[in-house]
Amino acid sequence: MIEDRIDGATLDGVAATCLWTLRNRAEESRHPGSVFADPLAERLQRRISYDYARFGKPDQIHPLRAAALDFALRAYLDRHPAATVVALGEGLQTTYWRLGRPAVDWRLGRPAVDWLSVDLPPVIDLRRRVLPPEPRVTSIPASALDRAWLAAPDPARGVFISAEGLFMYLERDDVLALIADCAARFPGGQLFFDSIPPWLSRRTLKSGPRGRPPFSTSPEGTDNSGLRLSAGYTVPPMPFGLTVSEAARLLGRIPGVAAVADVQPPPGRGAWRPGTLRRLANLPGLRDLRPSITLVTFAG
Ligand SMILES: C[S@@+](CC[C@H](N)C(=O)[O-])C[C@H]1O[C@@H](n2cnc3c(N)ncnc32)[C@H](O)[C@@H]1O
Repeated sequence: MIEDRIDGATLDGVAATCLWTLRNRAEESRHPGSVFADPLAERLQRRISYDYARFGKPDQIHPLRAAALDFALRAYLDRHPAATVVALGEGLQTTYWRLGRPAVDWRLGRPAVDWLSVDLPPVIDLRRRVLPPEPRVTSIPASALDRAWLAAPDPARGVFISAEGLFMYLERDDVLALIADCAARFPGGQLFFDSIPPWLSRRTLKSGPRGRPPFSTSPEGTDNSGLRLSAGYTVPPMPFGLTVSEAARLLGRIPGVAAVADVQPPPGRGAWRPGTLRRLANLPGLRDLRPSITLVTFAG
């Protein structure tokens, strides 16, 4: 059956970044040398018409981050099979399906996982149009910073929160306050998030020529500053940067944080294979200059 195509250009600003990460996962899934499989992402990318070339060349960073999330989430659900998963800023992520639809385990007589997908209203609207409905997946069209979603999961069943590609778009104080609220509300839970280093954050904030405000408010292709993926696309400002060392210091700084782990993405192709580059990226002097993935465990 040929499905109607849906116009992705209804998204703009930070909401449109979910098309960038979707494109990267779908392209990696199609790559003959890849071990990352996400047929639903491929289908979504075909279904949503958009000028994906504006995101520049496909990059493995997003599919490898997704694979790292899958791994962490599987491990948590093995220990907490009735947990609630809260995917903050979920975009068009298809983790639920890559994990084999964990909520349908009730057919096997096991307790079921509940899944909350939190994102801005235009993104949730698109998610609802393109993804298959699932009885135990609830979409919440709201900011992750709006604390209403914290009341939904039952803390006693276990809670795993993902914030994949989200925190860099928020302000530092807001992120730290949100982590503290999650730690207080969900003892024994885990939070998975990724960060860019502060030098990269600063680059995204650079003002455009002639003092114009940077990025999304100016007509595309006219701004020569910031982090450009192509002549036609500059990523929205990312005000929050965090080093690996700063992430480690969340333990002790935020009450209720019991452990902080620097998560290594799984091996990819080319430069992302295990080898010299990875070893370099973990040297003490260089570790704080690279993007990172952090898994926080809350005291139980
Ligand atoms: C780079 S995309 C990542 C999407 C998805 N997590 C992934 O990895 O493909 C960033 C997402 O964060 C969402 N977002 C930005 N600010 C948000 C906020 N305050 N609350 C909830 N979602 C937000 C955007 O709408 C977008 O879907």
